[in-house]
Amino acid sequence: MARERFCIAAVTLGLALGGLSLGLLGADPVPAPVTAPVTPKTPGLVGGETCATCHEDMAKAFLAGPHGQAMAAARSKTMPDEACERCHGPGGTHVDDPQKTNIVRNPKDEACLSCHSQAGGLMALSLPGHDRTGVPKCLDCHVPGHGPAPAKPLLAGPPSVVCAKCHGQVAVSFKMPYSHRKGDSPFECTACHAAHGNNRTGRLQQTGPGSVCLTCHTEMSGPYIYPHPPRSVSGCIECHTPHGSMNPMMLTRPQVAQVCIECHTALTPRHNISKPIYRNCQNCHIGIHGSNHSRRLLDE
Ligand code: HEC
Ligand code: HEC
Ligand code: HEC
Ligand code: HEC
Ligand code: HEC
Ligand code: HEC
Ligand code: HEC
Ligand code: HEC
Ligand code: HEC
Ligand code: HEC
Repeated sequence: MARERFCIAAVTLGLALGGLSLGLLGADPVPAPVTAPVTPKTPGLVGGETCATCHEDMAKAFLAGPHGQAMAAARSKTMPDEACERCHGPGGTHVDDPQKTNIVRNPKDEACLSCHSQAGGLMALSLPGHDRTGVPKCLDCHVPGHGPAPAKPLLAGPPSVVCAKCHGQVAVSFKMPYSHRKGDSPFECTACHAAHGNNRTGRLQQTGPGSVCLTCHTEMSGPYIYPHPPRSVSGCIECHTPHGSMNPMMLTRPQVAQVCIECHTALTPRHNISKPIYRNCQNCHIGIHGSNHSRRLLDE
């Protein structure tokens, strides 16, 4: 179905080239559809067919690529013909006098948003840092689709690579001895972060302390009769780093006791830290994430 509509659009564009449709479809010539050529509504618009007369290869590659195909499958049949100028701006002047300087090369975000509505929060780049700085732009992460995309959906690479362009430090922490990776590959940033939209807590995909962690670590989700307060107050990252760490279990400190003593500065007299046994808190407090049997977390 989608494929059929793509064909019609491709043929419309191919008319001007007389046979472009052949290369695109790899099939017998299709009878010319009754669709009339698009009449420009805004001054200066010429339509994609006109662009294709000079930029045959670019037009062909675009229409056969993931974006062109997605557009062809969309509701509006004229979209592929409008597409070139939605991104590159009205081309009238450029067609009369082809120069690099009188046509937009890299569209601004607004051009993308003219088709991708902000409805549903899709384009609200709501990681606060991204909102605040106005960085990144659509094309920092996405490719336009003149040819196959390195990664889906129309991404310049997998998120862990694309995000690393700017967040090098974070990317490096996935190489640390204890980190969220599978073999040599880091977890995708999108496992925990929303690239844009639906980001209710600002930084992460989901609401609630620890909940982004609990989508995978379901065994920690409790509820416990005796929860360990930090878990329910500030979430897992009181004690763990989310990306990676030099410390076992991705703890924030090399030793468990150091993590504990940061909050529990005064321990009861029984805790004679000069005795080795007391330096390993989990020797007795095994219910670190919460317990159903012991208020003192001495059991799970
Ligand atoms: C009459 C032929 C012709 C038509 C029609 C034409 N172009 Fe061009 N276009 C050119 C030429 C020639 C260049 C290269 C100019 C140069 O290298 O100085 C160019 C360059 C470009 C560039 C590169 C700009 C850059 O900064 O590198 C873009 C993008 C472009 N055209 C888009 C379009 C679009 C979109 C249309 C349709 C609205 C279109 N062109 C129609 C001939 C044409
Ligand atoms: C989604 C936005 C978008 C659409 C739609 C789009 N382009 Fe582009 N186009 C770009 C971007 C971005 C670049 C610059 C790519 C780069 O620098 O790698 C580009 C580059 C070009 C260039 C310059 C290529 C070069 O190597 O210098 C031409 C010519 C061009 N586009 C023509 C077209 C034509 C013709 C269409 C319609 C069939 C079209 N574009 C549709 C975004 C778009
Ligand atoms: C002429 C309209 C139009 C313009 C302009 C446009 N897009 Fe799209 N794009 C679409 C349509 C239609 C789809 C198919 C999905 C949909 O219906 O939302 C799509 C799909 C996508 C997808 C998902 C691809 C996939 O594989 O699922 C991405 C990412 C995307 N566009 C990014 C961009 C970016 C970035 C720009 C600006 C550089 C842009 N688009 C400009 C119409 C457009
Ligand atoms: C920080 C990088 C980044 C920026 C900036 C960005 N995107 Fe995306 N976009 C992504 C990633 C990553 C995905 C895939 C999301 C996933 O897999 O969870 C995506 C997915 C999409 C999709 C597919 C539908 C969806 O929501 O999954 C569209 C359409 C899209 N982006 C358009 C845009 C447009 C338009 C802009 C500019 C207003 C933009 N994006 C800016 C990274 C980015
Ligand atoms: C073009 C550069 C760029 C790219 C690409 C980029 N970011 Fe950012 N990001 C920034 C900047 C700039 C900030 C703000 C940094 C600051 O305020 O210290 C930021 C901030 C953030 C923050 C922190 C938000 C906060 O509340 O402080 C997160 C999380 C984030 N980015 C995740 C991502 C993810 C995930 C990706 C890939 C899908 C990504 N970024 C891609 C530039 C980028
Ligand atoms: C396992 C889940 C998870 C993954 C995977 C993940 N993050 Fe995060 N990220 C978090 C959490 C949780 C925080 C909040 C940490 C805090 O507030 O101290 C965070 C914070 C951040 C921040 C802001 C604070 C800082 O450390 O600079 C940035 C930027 C960021 N992440 C980028 C990325 C990038 C880029 C990737 C992919 C390479 C990624 N994250 C992968 C969970 C994750
Ligand atoms: C996308 C799924 C996923 C998310 C989200 C996730 N994790 Fe993990 N986590 C894993 C996997 C898989 C492992 C590796 C387990 C293994 O190697 O046996 C792991 C390992 C760990 C380990 C080390 C366990 C060990 O035995 O070395 C800790 C600690 C951890 N995660 C904490 C967190 C925290 C804190 C968060 C939230 C910031 C989080 N995880 C989010 C999947 C996830
Ligand atoms: C009070 C500090 C603290 C908090 C808060 C905390 N952890 Fe832990 N976590 C630890 C310690 C300490 C260990 C190591 C236990 C050991 O070595 O026996 C650990 C071990 C783990 C492990 C690996 C061992 C196992 O039992 O599977 C995972 C996975 C883990 N934590 C996930 C989480 C998640 C998810 C959260 C949030 C819901 C969380 N942690 C909150 C201190 C904490
Ligand atoms: C981020 C701060 C923080 C960290 C880190 C932390 N705790 Fe706690 N812990 C608390 C708070 C707050 C309470 C509740 C205290 C209260 O009710 O008086 C608590 C309660 C406890 C209790 C029960 C106390 C009671 O009154 O019965 C034990 C046992 C305990 N923690 C052990 C540990 C151990 C072992 C570690 C290290 C793995 C640790 N805690 C790390 C903040 C922390
Ligand atoms: C040999 C077993 C053992 C070890 C090891 C141990 N504890 Fe305890 N801890 C206990 C017992 C038993 C209690 C309850 C009775 C008491 O406080 O004397 C307790 C109580 C606590 C309490 C609650 C105190 C209160 O005010 O009620 C905290 C907090 C605590 N331990 C933290 C730690 C920390 C941090 C470590 C590691 C540095 C640690 N414990 C190591 C046995 C141990």
